[in-house]
Amino acid sequence: MNLREALRIPSADVTEESVYRDRRRVLAMLGAVPALGIAGCSEAAPPASTATITPEQAKAGFSTAEELTRELDATTYNNFYEFGTNKDDPSNAAKTLRTSPWTVAVGGHCAKPGKLSLEDLIKGLSPQERIYRMRCVEGWSMVIPWLGVPLGDALKRFEPTSKAKYVAFTSLADPRQMPGVRSPVLDWPYREGLRIDEAMNPLTLLATGMYGKTLPQQNGAPLRLVVPWKYGFKGIKSIIAITFVERMPKTSWNMSQASEYGFFSNVNPAVDHPRWSQASERRIAGSASKLFAERIPTLPFNGYAAQVASMYAGMDLKKWF
Ligand code: MTE
Repeated sequence: MNLREALRIPSADVTEESVYRDRRRVLAMLGAVPALGIAGCSEAAPPASTATITPEQAKAGFSTAEELTRELDATTYNNFYEFGTNKDDPSNAAKTLRTSPWTVAVGGHCAKPGKLSLEDLIKGLSPQERIYRMRCVEGWSMVIPWLGVPLGDALKRFEPTSKAKYVAFTSLADPRQMPGVRSPVLDWPYREGLRIDEAMNPLTLLATGMYGKTLPQQNGAPLRLVVPWKYGFKGIKSIIAITFVERMPKTSWNMSQASEYGFFSNVNPAVDHPRWSQASERRIAGSASKLFAERIPTLPFNGYAAQVASMYAGMDLKKWF
């Protein structure tokens, strides 16, 4: 099996941890992900805290030894309003979303715009596994093993010009496939954006998979953004357009409630949501019998300050929340 095949393996509805671990082993053999420690190969071992993480990976923020969120929780406790606003709506309703063929239009201020198949968009880029914390603005968090390519690697090939100060992203909004789009809960399509330096940061991932398999529809198949130092809503799902723009683009949650959701949305325990504190979070992790583990403090930039804080030097993060 080549790596492309490994990344595009159709996902089963619910995958046993052992299957994920097996896939991980395949990827590790191909040199794409850090190999699990020998002990980690035993199927009975707890998830991922046994993963071998090199000091370089830890330093880059590319991986963490924290306990993984169970795959079942990460794929059934979702926000994907195109399929409904309840946490289990996406896993119940998104199964029918057609994710292949899939085309992404890349345009705006760049020398080489184009409409590409997903396969061509990521062709030749080295797939990577990243184990990231994900902190939702609602106050819960997960630790998820993603597969994907660094967004910057994909974007560079379109040769953005000096006018490309921001990157705007658009999700599919197809009322025939996405029942939630028929109700005006957000101004569809779902939109997100990054400043160009944020888009080019090595942590920013265009994800095509998770837990060693192709992304399930409810998690944003076939292509979503993962920006681990920002609140989860920046991680736009089922992307169909990427546009280089000169001005800060409109983003869905900011359009919906500007006083509550800023453009930057960096995880920041010192800036509360107007209706709740952001100082701590409930981690959804591991094999705990209850969904939520104990409350833990939320870290500035979700624990990625060493890698990203310099991008915001001199900015008032209370103003630019
Ligand atoms: N992308 C689209 N298109 N629609 C959405 O409703 N929800 C966001 C984000 N991306 C959302 C989206 C929010 S609020 C969060 S927290 C994450 O997706 C959730 O990702 P997950 O369901 O894979 O955990």
